[in-house]
Amino acid sequence: MSAPNKSYDPVEVEALKPEEIERMRDEALAAFAAADSLDALHEAKVAHTGPTSPLALANREIGALPPHAKADAGKRVGMARGAVNKALAARQAELEAERDARVLVEEAVDVTLPYDRVPAGARHPLTTMMERVADVFVAMGYEIAEGPEAEAEWFNFDALNFTPDHPARQMQDTFFVRGPQGDHGESGVVLRTHTSPVQARSLLERKPPVYVVCPGRVYRTDELDATHTPVFHQIELLAVDEGLTMADLKGTLDHMVQSLFGADMKTRLRPNYFPFTEPSAEMDMLCYVCKGASVGNPDRPCRTCSSEGWIELGGCGMVNPRVLIACGVDPEKYSGFAFGFGIERMLMFRHNVEDMRDMVEGDVRFTRPFGMEI
Ligand code: PHE
Repeated sequence: MSAPNKSYDPVEVEALKPEEIERMRDEALAAFAAADSLDALHEAKVAHTGPTSPLALANREIGALPPHAKADAGKRVGMARGAVNKALAARQAELEAERDARVLVEEAVDVTLPYDRVPAGARHPLTTMMERVADVFVAMGYEIAEGPEAEAEWFNFDALNFTPDHPARQMQDTFFVRGPQGDHGESGVVLRTHTSPVQARSLLERKPPVYVVCPGRVYRTDELDATHTPVFHQIELLAVDEGLTMADLKGTLDHMVQSLFGADMKTRLRPNYFPFTEPSAEMDMLCYVCKGASVGNPDRPCRTCSSEGWIELGGCGMVNPRVLIACGVDPEKYSGFAFGFGIERMLMFRHNVEDMRDMVEGDVRFTRPFGMEI
């Protein structure tokens, strides 16, 4: 900085000459314009606006000027610095915008590119549905029980109080592996037509109280079409204990549909006949979509329940004392309830699956969207 000098004119100080100031300003503007990256701009910023930049040094000279000259010099330096700062900010904004646009392009992910990962498989929705139902009962203390798919005719029918001439035994319903039961009493072997034989097996294997849930694959001689398949899945429940009544059955069913479909769900029972339960009932659950609001209400039709308000689930009842006796359980002391229903049907109405064949064809495109289910 020059020493105070009361006499000289600012234009005579080299650094404060108007053409010098203009040159400094123009050099700064040229340097900013030439900076082609934020780093280069930063360097130009330090060189042209930093504390040792020509304009900053010139600014310091003002302090040494006589008072009458300060205003004029200050104005010119101030204007030059203002123009420089403005140009700097503009170039900064320009380069940042360019960088952001470039990053967007460079980091864009093309979601349509084919991927080279080995596709992860997905669990079949029938499996997850069965586990989901079984879990409701496992949480209540029930045990999972299983039995063979190729089952003794005795377990599939006799132990369950099907008389020898019961139509369900006939060839049109049942796949016989060996048999049917011959005149000499040798047991036939069938592909089990329901999971109920696991009731008899469970009672023979355990002492009451018995609380079991039996998921599994079953077979009937149906043609494969949109609503039938010869191989399907059921889940069976059996409780045998002292003092069990139909109220326990009803409460258990209500609890199940509430766990699976929501707290305001309920079930209803309609009289029916099964040889192994007495009394027997057909069980329906409230339609979880319309909750019955579609009944008699053409403005609000419901696809899920065909505007019936209820969805048929399966069969249930109090275990027939004849079954208890066949399995060595004293019907005077113990009573029980049981129910069973098809998993395919539940999957159909729960997920709007329209064709049962989709469930058996093993096409991963059907399975994968369900695979996210835990
Ligand atoms: N096993 C019966 C069926 O397949 C359903 C059922 C199970 C009925 C348990 C009553 C009790 O249709």
